Amino acid sequence: PPLDEILNLHDFEAVARAVLSPKAWAYYSSGSDDEIANRSNREAYQRVWFLPRILRDVTAVNRSAVILGQKSSLPIYISATALGKLGHPDGELNLTRAAAKHGLIQMIPTLASCSFDEIVDAAQPNQPLFLQLYVNRDRELTKKYVQHAEKRGVSGLFITVDAPQLGRREKDMRMKFVDDGAGAKVQEGQSGVQKNQGISRAISSFIDPSLSWDDIPWFRSITKMPIVLKGVASPQDAIMALEAGVQGIVLSNHGGRQLDSARSGIENLVDVVAALKTRGPWPNPNFSVFIDGGVRRASDVLKALALGASAVGIGRGFLYAFSAYGQDGVEKAIEILRVNATYNDPLCFPDVKYQDEFEMNMRLLGITSLEELKPELVDASRLSAG
Ligand code: FNR
Repeated sequence: PPLDEILNLHDFEAVARAVLSPKAWAYYSSGSDDEIANRSNREAYQRVWFLPRILRDVTAVNRSAVILGQKSSLPIYISATALGKLGHPDGELNLTRAAAKHGLIQMIPTLASCSFDEIVDAAQPNQPLFLQLYVNRDRELTKKYVQHAEKRGVSGLFITVDAPQLGRREKDMRMKFVDDGAGAKVQEGQSGVQKNQGISRAISSFIDPSLSWDDIPWFRSITKMPIVLKGVASPQDAIMALEAGVQGIVLSNHGGRQLDSARSGIENLVDVVAALKTRGPWPNPNFSVFIDGGVRRASDVLKALALGASAVGIGRGFLYAFSAYGQDGVEKAIEILRVNATYNDPLCFPDVKYQDEFEMNMRLLGITSLEELKPELVDASRLSAG
């Protein structure tokens, strides 16, 4: 369908499914094992209810946020998803260019199809970028990669901590790995590539399963970038991250692709925030709690922020958008969330104005800025009970 018939982020998924090769669809869409975590990421948001406030003058709404000290037009960042060229020949650059146009922050994956430098070169001067890091068994390579990223202006290091071993994504495993040129140009090298176990396994054999809390001081010593641990679930680990001196965590089950039945980020958020509150002032300006998994609507983001998240990552929403329509698709996805539009509907009235998802939901919730999002605006009592 033409892009102007796309009304929400779910719509991109259906188009992506239709246009992607079976191999790419399997790699992008799959979760691990029985895909319980993958499904529950979406379902969990349906168990958080709004308690909107009324009569509060919501004429002017501000949806902008600051993420790890960087300005963002929305409280959303583009989370790292590997192998963008499986979906579109321009791969990750679709995200870089759309993010530049709309003031969003892209997290560059270690396993991007485009090289790290190609992505940074495609960015505008001063466009904020984050880096997602898979830690190599060869720490010197990792050190070089991290320091190169810092030198090139990357402003946040997200170390993936939920993948000491890749999950079993069986849809993907059924598709034997055939090199079609979309593979990652990983700076860190890929010795021992196994070509018969699906794409995920083929590209991930360099990842170091010995990574531990003892390595965190070393990461802090090699970079001044803020460090965020991506893939935290338990309140105890959240406290350990705070005490290890990193700048934040992402509550995430990796889009349901790692440990199956790992509880979703939104379900863990309440317990994690309660635990962190026992260790100092909250919100803590030096420690951010991010969340990802299953986010497709501004309303999902508003629920997460009300429960204490600083910002929210979206993976497949943007991945499917560029798989279906390239850069234009990503721009459209962002516009659905943040740009008011006027439509001429011949059957209705001309020049009907539609609010974007953020503005509409914030007005209906009775708030004009994201700082007003507080737990009182949601009922999460059924979140864990579901
Ligand atoms: C991912 N994700 C991911 N995470 C990471 O730390 N390194 C990676 O290389 C990848 N690669 C990747 C590929 C694909 C195809 C997907 C769908 C996801 C996880 C990603 O950053 C994020 O945690 C989830 O995608 C969030 O869930 P949604 O938004 O996809 O539902």
